[in-house]
This record gives sequence, structure tokens and C-alpha cells, in this order.
Amino acid sequence: MGGTVVEQSELAGRVALVTGAGQGIGEAVTRALVARGARVAALDATPDGIKKLEAEFAAGAVRHYTADVSDSRAVEAVVDDVEKNVGPLDILVNVAGVLRTSPVVEISDEDWQRTFAVNSTGVFNTSRAAARRMGERRSGAIVTVGSNAAGVPRTSMAAYAASKAAATMFTKCLGLELARNGVRCNVVSPGSTDTAMQRALWAGDEVPERVIDGDPAAYRVGIPLGRIADPSDVADAVLFLVSDRARHITMHDLYVDGGATLRA
Ligand SMILES: NC(=O)c1ccc[n+]([C@@H]2O[C@H](COP(=O)([O-])OP(=O)(O)OC[C@H]3O[C@@H](n4cnc5c(N)ncnc54)[C@H](O)[C@@H]3O)[C@@H](O)[C@H]2O)c1
Repeated sequence: MGGTVVEQSELAGRVALVTGAGQGIGEAVTRALVARGARVAALDATPDGIKKLEAEFAAGAVRHYTADVSDSRAVEAVVDDVEKNVGPLDILVNVAGVLRTSPVVEISDEDWQRTFAVNSTGVFNTSRAAARRMGERRSGAIVTVGSNAAGVPRTSMAAYAASKAAATMFTKCLGLELARNGVRCNVVSPGSTDTAMQRALWAGDEVPERVIDGDPAAYRVGIPLGRIADPSDVADAVLFLVSDRARHITMHDLYVDGGATLRA
């Protein structure tokens, strides 16, 4: 079908950097980009998943980079290498993130600092490195995967929610600065999505049904659409925002949470 062919080659020739690409949402985003013809530099702190992705696809489709997004020098080195060996960056998708839950009075210095180092500073490190190059070339698209927790208070999630709110506002400010350079910056804010990060929560006293139903005692709203998201639901939103179909959209925050936050 004609439409399908166009869709499948929508990102042909584009070069993308995806962080947190080794599993979960980052893996789904990587697969979706490759399926549309992009070449993807897949970055993760853990090598196993990204090496598997590199091996799975035809030569050149995925190149793996083992690095920690909180390390600005390592990030600069990766972006340099991507530009030399994969091609000039057209797309950056910030997916790498960590979730450490506990009530504020019990959050350790280490948990607070690590949460911000990865979820906020990590987004700054990769986005700054990409923005310098994209801005000069006057084209590019950046998407940061935030969280619906950035906009609604949740118990035991203060560090995570605050770090995601920082990444969200940073990405919007970057979008304003880069608008005149033709670079678009948007946020995709997922709700509960079926990945290892989410299942780690279920290992406690949460089960999928409780997440869907909500829990008034924990000030936790339910999911009106009645299901947990698949990573591909989030990847679809990312794909749209990095594509030319979204050429007039920047500084937007697209919630993919089944209505959980009522966009409050
Ligand atoms: N799963 C959910 O319910 C959910 C909901 C809202 C937002 N999110 C966000 O979506 C993103 C992806 O989440 P996921 O559920 O796929 O998580 P996940 O834990 O399954 O995968 C995260 C990936 O990021 C990598 N990573 C972690 N720290 C890193 C670092 N410092 N440098 C480089 N890579 C690093 C991990 O190795 C892992 O491969 C995260 O930013 C998360 O906060 C997830």
C-alpha cells in the first residue's frame, strides 16, 4: 500500500541518538526509528541490550555506545563519534532514566543526587551536545521522555517527579532557544508503561490491577482507558514528534498515560 511505503521510509537517511536504548521504552523507540529507515546510535549504561540490538539489525542500522548520560565528557565523546561514524545527528531521544522511590524523609543523599544526575543532568548533557550541532546546521528534533509524575504530586516519588519536572521545563526552554534555528524540542510524558522499571514497582504491594484502578489512600489516580501502556504506545508518540509530520510542533508535552492525570 502506498501510504505504508511512505511511512516505512519516513526517516530514511536520518541519524538518531537514543539514550536508555537497551530495554523498555528506549528499545521500542530504537526499533520504531529503525523500522522507519533511520540509523540509530543506541546509548545505554548497560551494554547487553544495545549490543543485542546492534547484532539483530543489518550492518549500520544500529551502533551501540556504552556510556552514562550523567557523565558530560562521555556524552560529548559519544556525540563526536556518532557525527563522525554514523552521520550528522538529526534526532535525539532522551529516554534513559532511573526510578528510586521513598518518602521524602527517607530519601538518601545518594538517591536524590543520582536521580537528578540521570533524569535531569543527563538530559542536559545530551541535549546540549546535540543542540550545538543541530543549531549550527539549522535542523533537528529532540524529544525528552519525561513522566506524567512530573505534573501530579505522588507519594514516595518526590525525587523522581521533581527530576522529571526539571527535564520537562529544560526541554521546553531549549525549544524556545532553538526555534529560530529550526530545531524542535518536545516532551513525551508516559504514564505506567509495561517495562522492567514498572514491574519493579509491582514487586512491592502494587499489582497491575491496582495501578489501573488507582489507590485513593496513596493519592494515586487510576487509568481511565483501563490498561497499562506498552512501550510501543510511547514510541509511537516519539516517532510522530521527531517526524516531519510534527514540523510545526515544538515545546509541546504529549501525555501518553491513558488519561491517568486528567491532564491536570
Ligand atoms: N515504565 C514506566 O511506567 C514509565 C512511566 C513514565 C516515565 N517513564 C520513563 O521512561 C524512560 C524509560 O523507562 P523504562 O520503563 O523503559 O525503564 P527501564 O528501567 O526499563 O530502562 C531504562 C534504561 O535506561 C538505562 N539507563 C539508566 N541509567 C542510565 C544512565 N545513567 N546512562 C545511560 N543509560 C541509563 C538503563 O540501563 C535501561 O536500559 C525513563 O526515563 C522513565 O523514567 C517510564
